[in-house]
Amino acid sequence: MKTSKVLLTFDILTLMPEMFLALSDYGVTGRAFKKKIVNLNLLNPREFSTDLHKTVDDRTYGGGPGMLMMADPLVKAIEAAKKRQSSLGIKDSKVIHMTPSGKLLSHNKAKELSECKGLVIIASRYEGIDERVNNWVDEEISIGDYVLSGGELPAMTMMDCLIRQLPGVLNDDESATQDSFVNGLLDHSHFTRPEIFKEMKVPEVLLSGNHEKIRLWRLKESLKLTWRNRPDLLAEKLLTKEETRLLEEIQIEQEQDSI
Ligand code: ADE
Repeated sequence: MKTSKVLLTFDILTLMPEMFLALSDYGVTGRAFKKKIVNLNLLNPREFSTDLHKTVDDRTYGGGPGMLMMADPLVKAIEAAKKRQSSLGIKDSKVIHMTPSGKLLSHNKAKELSECKGLVIIASRYEGIDERVNNWVDEEISIGDYVLSGGELPAMTMMDCLIRQLPGVLNDDESATQDSFVNGLLDHSHFTRPEIFKEMKVPEVLLSGNHEKIRLWRLKESLKLTWRNRPDLLAEKLLTKEETRLLEEIQIEQEQDSI
């Protein structure tokens, strides 16, 4: 396999480093690690705890349920990660804390982060981290309005999203330029063989070989799906004349269908 220059270096702070094998050893992301387009280093804050029992969590001041990750082991781990990245020539590493209270991850945010050279990601457990650690954090990121049991899956979700944006990761057949959200719309529907499945036929236009008609059909399908599932995206998007016309067609068709 051809090797390339490392484009993005990750240092992950986690109490469960083994979980990251799901990312580093499988599929598209696994291939990016093998090709050395991305570099991964896992740090366990427990190794930075100075106490005999390697404690990393404690109760919250003021009472309340749950435990917090303590500041000292985390800050030491962040500093070690930044030092390592600096020794690799990365001077502007960004520290990210995965938290449901962070800013929502979007396609644009993922694109922006994929252009960084080095990221230090805190995958916290328990009820989160001691607030004072935020003095070492550049960004807080959430992957959605729901709470998971830890930051590992959110970190892996974000990393997968960033890695697939990097040049050389996807081959031509898998191009990320066709993904949902790239043009502010959801991806259109797709069909593969057989042409007829349980009496359901592939739309005629896709068999026609007429590239312009296929492009228009796909754009209309994208608009239809976005209108149905994510009207919030349409409200944010500046539509072209062609998209406005297609959306009007869709709305007329839907009105006729409901009569
Ligand atoms: N940790 C727990 N839930 C999370 C979420 N939704 N996003 C980011 N980190 C999290």
